[in-house]
Amino acid sequence: MLIRRPRRNRKSAVIRQMVQESRVGVEDLILPLFLIEGENKKVEVSSMPGIYRYSADLLLEEIQSCIRLGIKSFAPFPSIDDALKNTLATEGHNPEGLYPSTIRKIKKNFPDVCLITDIAMDPYSSDGHDGIVKDGKILNDETLEVLGKMALAQAEAGTDMLGPSDMMDGRIGYLRQILDEHGFTEVSIMSYTAKYASAFYGPFRDALNSAPKSGDKKTYQMNPANRTEALIEADLDIEEGADILMVKPAIPYLDVIRLLKDSYATPIAAYHVSGEYAMIKAASEKGWLNGEQCMLEALTCIKRAGADIILTYFAKDFAHWYQKNNQ
Ligand code: PBG
Repeated sequence: MLIRRPRRNRKSAVIRQMVQESRVGVEDLILPLFLIEGENKKVEVSSMPGIYRYSADLLLEEIQSCIRLGIKSFAPFPSIDDALKNTLATEGHNPEGLYPSTIRKIKKNFPDVCLITDIAMDPYSSDGHDGIVKDGKILNDETLEVLGKMALAQAEAGTDMLGPSDMMDGRIGYLRQILDEHGFTEVSIMSYTAKYASAFYGPFRDALNSAPKSGDKKTYQMNPANRTEALIEADLDIEEGADILMVKPAIPYLDVIRLLKDSYATPIAAYHVSGEYAMIKAASEKGWLNGEQCMLEALTCIKRAGADIILTYFAKDFAHWYQKNNQ
């Protein structure tokens, strides 16, 4: 007779849940949001069914409906009119610009939510790159000053956390110093520590019309083939004062999430990106996959790999599922 029968721990739904090792909670999730100019606007992102670009007034309503579902953390990204873009991304630090003014509105209406706001030049850059472009090169240090101004505009608007997403060098230390010098010691930094040069960002760039005008992002974002290099990035981020480390995308990089979780004491975030969302939605629309089951599996596996926090466009779908199944 068999003494050990692992199947005994799988014999009923109650037991399976009792012995379940990883679990997703609504409180683990951060919902990325797309913001556009104007009023009363809600435009679907064609490559992301169920995800919309909202004008600030409707974004507030959307946040209200998310709060009712238990979602309390949001990562807004702005889509800026081409006419306002330039080589130095100056609109990014205009205190009356779309982004800082919307941050102010959100925090005024919903002081308890956590906002993680984006620090990078690409939404405002006429070159579509995350840094200043000169003779085809992306400048590292020269870009810092622009990012510092953006950080102050967002901190003054009341953001809770900055998400420097450009994967260039010295960002965390520089921003931490600028924030502290201006009295914003309480503003946190979630670093895009291991952000890969990934083709899975395609739908996001469609949503924001922010694709690079020339070249690619491989001189700053990481090579998908590399894992130990993430440790160099993470060591620097920790030294420079990051509060949370992020890996991005999520599912193709679960080993990197586990590596950082085992190597650092800070919370680890994973960004389940636009292309990862689009794949599941598209296949499910065609009837090729069960979208809800794939969503649950993907999010649970990201937790199992070691992520404490997940940025995901599925946050609302997950919260709906959770309400249905856990009352
Ligand atoms: C740009 C930025 C990107 C994403 C978040 N911030 C795209 C890029 O690096 O080109 C991608 C997010 C997603 O695909 O969901 N700073």
